[in-house]
Amino acid sequence: MQGMASDEFVERVRERSDIFSVVSHYVQLTQKSGRYWGCCPFHNEKTASFTVSPDKGLFYCFGCGAGGDVFKFISLIENVNYYEAIKLQAQRLGIDLPTKNFSPEQERRHREEKILFKINDLAQDFYHDCLIKTARGEVGRKYLAARGITQETIETFKLGFAPDEWENLFNRLTRQDFTAQQLEAVGLIAKRKNSSGYYDRFRARVMIPIADVLGRVVGFGGRIVNSADDTPKYLNTPETVLFNKRNLLFGLDKSGRAISAAGKVIVVEGYMDAISLFSAGVKNVVATLGTAFTSEHVKLILRYAKKIIFCYDSDEAGQRATIRALPIVQPTGAEVFVIKVPDGKDPDEFIRKHGKAAFDNLIEHATTMIDYRMKYILDSADLSTIHGKVQALQDILPAVVTIKDTVTRNEYRKKIAAALIMDEQLVADEWKNFSRKDQQKSAREFEKNSNAVKRPRLSNDENITIRDACETVLRMAWHESDILDYVLALVPLEFFSPVNQEIIGWLKNRAEQGLRADEVAATTELSEPAQAQLSRILIGGTNDPRDTELNIFNDSINTLRRAIIKKDYDKLVAQIKEYNRSGDDEAYKQMIRKSLELKYQMDKLKGS
Ligand code: UTP
Ligand code: MN
Repeated sequence: MQGMASDEFVERVRERSDIFSVVSHYVQLTQKSGRYWGCCPFHNEKTASFTVSPDKGLFYCFGCGAGGDVFKFISLIENVNYYEAIKLQAQRLGIDLPTKNFSPEQERRHREEKILFKINDLAQDFYHDCLIKTARGEVGRKYLAARGITQETIETFKLGFAPDEWENLFNRLTRQDFTAQQLEAVGLIAKRKNSSGYYDRFRARVMIPIADVLGRVVGFGGRIVNSADDTPKYLNTPETVLFNKRNLLFGLDKSGRAISAAGKVIVVEGYMDAISLFSAGVKNVVATLGTAFTSEHVKLILRYAKKIIFCYDSDEAGQRATIRALPIVQPTGAEVFVIKVPDGKDPDEFIRKHGKAAFDNLIEHATTMIDYRMKYILDSADLSTIHGKVQALQDILPAVVTIKDTVTRNEYRKKIAAALIMDEQLVADEWKNFSRKDQQKSAREFEKNSNAVKRPRLSNDENITIRDACETVLRMAWHESDILDYVLALVPLEFFSPVNQEIIGWLKNRAEQGLRADEVAATTELSEPAQAQLSRILIGGTNDPRDTELNIFNDSINTLRRAIIKKDYDKLVAQIKEYNRSGDDEAYKQMIRKSLELKYQMDKLKGS
């Protein structure tokens, strides 16, 4: 839809969209000092830090940093991408979508995709009807009943049954004008090996439709009903244009709302675990599809909640899968917890045996990622030898050195020392060693990745003044990108924080191409942190930048220039202090002179 999001269309939809009334559908807003406030729908909070500014058409949450325009809001709350949000809003307003901008090739692909979805839809109906209405479905009904799956759950997940026949679905759908190639493209049929023709992939299996976040069926999982069967327990749709396990999470289309509301998601390994938890009332649950947890999965989840609780099978394989998932999630800033189901192999068994309250209790007492890793390492460590202990310590340290809080850090130091029966001081020393190495490593990486001039370390007040100045400058640049050259002539790009650098670089790029800075482009071309930063900056200003901002713009530039000079000045002063004077030293005099000059420049900038 990129092509069809013509500026004109987007502007038409935007003009008719009132962010206040859109947000009001989801959030209760009250007016206070010219803005509207409410509890943020994107993170869990009790006091309102979510704000909407109707005249600017923006929202921003001071709690979680989510922010943007009306389309961004819709995209976040409905979990669709930005373009789909525009489309959705256009549909709600009854504005026709422009289609003429599709290239013929795009249009063909679009039509084909629609057909593939339609086929999956029909297959879902066929399997479902077969399960609930036909005599052939009896064995499926019996199987599900034995597992305690109710009629309601069968309806919610549109569970089905594939009859034990080779060409039933094939014949049905080809009679309806779908081609064998299309059926094969979604993985419902496969080519016969030794003769011509095709056969139904799924036979004699309970069918579990798998949907994308929009609820469109992209594939199926089929489970054998008879354990004597020597084929694999589950047969899944192979990778197709619609079905990619790496970025699909089973159940997310149904659990998304509950995940947002709870602020946390429970990740399980099996479809049946997800279905079972969901129908027992634990609705914020998703399952991976028999693959490792990927960074795509994290990204998907973080659109709904920050807290991720892994609840994999309690057997060896499940625990290993948990340990492997942790490093994938850790760098994303998600809060990670782990539940090890104490009784029964998996969450499905547990909740059936002990009920929802018992499971809720497990959630409440979930182990932090750090504790879990520590325990996992300790369980397999050989603590009878010094070597084994040292090895265990080395394995644990990467998990704990990231802890910032001193109290917690001390606690862990004690815990580790006790567990390893080791002197606490020794643990402390190793810890220090390790974090120094770690810091050096990340410093090296930082330098490698950016040849940025080191930004000055400043006190808090100074920091805030400078931050405000940066934001004023960026806000002006958003409205008038012409001023960027002027800004950059006085304040080098490296002076700005990486996020601000990204925004400036982007604004400059737009300006050079003769393009206006607009939110649509910002949303597709800027990183999430940069988008949020931009919203925060824009919401902070007045609507017409010329009014008041022009006055403070020059002050802001001067603040930044002064900060740059101050950096040199501070360095020089430190040098002078360290300097060993020997009589009438010319170099020393020169340093003093230079420092006075810098001081003079700084004062001048302060005065103006
Ligand atoms: P499990 O065996 O833990 O799934 O495999 P489950 O949902 O608990 O199965 P039940 O309770 O015995 O019915 C976890 C996941 O691994 C994939 C499936 O996605 C399954 O949900 N899997 C498992 C396969 O793809 N093929 C298999 O043969 C087995
Ligand atoms: Mn199971």
